[in-house]
Amino acid sequence: MKRYAIFGQPVAQSQSPRIHAAFARQTGIALEYTAIESSPADFPKVLERFVAGGGAGGNVTMPLKETAFALCATLGERARRAGAVNTLTWNDGQWHGDNTDGAGLVRDLTGRHGLDLRDRRVLLLGAGGAARGVAPALLDAGVAQMYVVNRTPEKADALVDMLGLPRRVHSRYWEQLGELGEFELVVNTTSAGRGNNGNHALKLPFSITTSRTAAVDLNYGEAAIPFLAWARAAGCRDIVDGLGMLVEQAAEAFKLWHGVRPDTDPVYAELRGRHAALATAD
Ligand code: ATR
Repeated sequence: MKRYAIFGQPVAQSQSPRIHAAFARQTGIALEYTAIESSPADFPKVLERFVAGGGAGGNVTMPLKETAFALCATLGERARRAGAVNTLTWNDGQWHGDNTDGAGLVRDLTGRHGLDLRDRRVLLLGAGGAARGVAPALLDAGVAQMYVVNRTPEKADALVDMLGLPRRVHSRYWEQLGELGEFELVVNTTSAGRGNNGNHALKLPFSITTSRTAAVDLNYGEAAIPFLAWARAAGCRDIVDGLGMLVEQAAEAFKLWHGVRPDTDPVYAELRGRHAALATAD
């Protein structure tokens, strides 16, 4: 049986084994999918052991996406543009890296939530690995202008430089948020709400939203609560957490490995049952 795994630290809380097991049942593909904890320093050795034990592919989460990028012999276009890998495939004795996060987000927003991203004015909060993963896909989906705002401004500048679209993508200081006008899409990619990060509420003015704004948090569960509560208080029309993106990026990885795209709706519905209170869009 082919072996797959999610690698991260921490990783015990990951929903990926459950999601891939559900996809496997649905498509009749026999596979094993486990969660393997690793630090960035140990990751090369952990992957060696995994391959020696029959490992064929892996998903990668925090804080290993950049390490995975560096370990790959070949890279797909989406991983190259993101500078981060979330999907590894063992191919001809070497690792091939891809990034399905952005495609997963766009598919969730446009397919599941029916949002039209074209010509939207977008605010991207954060400039870490998650932001790098989704920014190219949002641009490809046709958003008009993108403003990147990050606590550490140099990282916002670096992301904007890397995207290489000076007329469409701009970096601004957090303190300038009140002067940036209204956004039709606000995407929180920061880890500010994660428990291991002290669960900080971001300081965000209501002036960046309108009653038509879609507010999206790439986090789900408790980590998404502060931002989604802010979006609700601001009166945003669509309020979306990262659970749908999680299922969609997994489906994209499943397709890369097994050649079939599973039906994500029943798997999303099952997960949503356990995170019911958090999403109000649909
Ligand atoms: P990920 O892979 O999830 O993106 P990351 O690469 O560590 O994780 O990036 C975390 C992001 O959350 C960064 O943009 C970080 O801002 P800095 O670059 O200034 O560190 C942002 N972040 C984390 N805690 C934050 C907080 N309390 N307030 C604002 N931004 C925060």
